[in-house]
Amino acid sequence: MAALLSMENVTGGYGDADILHSVSMSVEDKEIVVIVGPNGAGKSTAMKAVFGLLNVRGGRTVFDGDDITGWSPNRIVQRGICYVPQVDNIFREMSIHENLEMGAFLKKGDLSAAYDRVYELFPDLKERRKTMAGSLSGGQRQMVAMGRALMLDPKLLLLDEPTAGLSPKYMEQIFQISRDVRDTGVAILLVEQHAKQALAFADRGYVLAAGQNRHEGTGADLLADREIAEMFLGG
Ligand SMILES: Nc1ncnc2c1ncn2[C@@H]1O[C@H](COP(=O)(O)OP(=O)(O)O)[C@@H](O)[C@H]1O
Ligand SMILES: [Mg+2]
Repeated sequence: MAALLSMENVTGGYGDADILHSVSMSVEDKEIVVIVGPNGAGKSTAMKAVFGLLNVRGGRTVFDGDDITGWSPNRIVQRGICYVPQVDNIFREMSIHENLEMGAFLKKGDLSAAYDRVYELFPDLKERRKTMAGSLSGGQRQMVAMGRALMLDPKLLLLDEPTAGLSPKYMEQIFQISRDVRDTGVAILLVEQHAKQALAFADRGYVLAAGQNRHEGTGADLLADREIAEMFLGG
């Protein structure tokens, strides 16, 4: 069976210079895949390439049977991929509920099933749904951002460093919620600085460095590799 997402030898960058050099990765249905690697490796850029935010000069990206290379982010969203950037991913001046509503702006008709689904995944948000998003803790804000993305019922969720700046307790909570999300049938591709914890939690991982693939494998295999641990995971 073909992968849900397949990025094949993608080369590209923001302007004329290439940041990604023939990067390949895939995500299967209902799989959690993590991208790790040093700062500036091109992790966020790889995610932006999937979401149509890069000048792609080589290779292609196939999603759910469609070649989406060169598609606009808007069209990609409608096709079933939602993206949560690392920063500025919520509307601070709006309530939690309004944030979710904004997430569903492309959706026509009754949103009650979408709200129910998100509030079931994030009971904390339901309790506080009238609270202004800007007044929430970092972990709760991340939940709002994820919930907003899930309003469109994507098949694939892209998360850029969802646990950045969070306490270990919130990090574990975000990972647990990600598993719950996956169990509802959504595949997840995420970037993580907390490489060891993320590899322990993900099904598979990719190590990127200098805009290129370095290693790939199951999270457990990557964690067990001494050389990878020393080079990329802080020993
Ligand atoms: N908007 C941008 N315009 C130009 N260069 C960028 C932009 N964003 C990132 N870069 C460059 O691309 C490279 C990879 O960055 P990034 O993908 O953000 O790395 P990572 O997420 O792995 O830390 C870096 O050299 C960075 O300076
Ligand atoms: Mg990044």
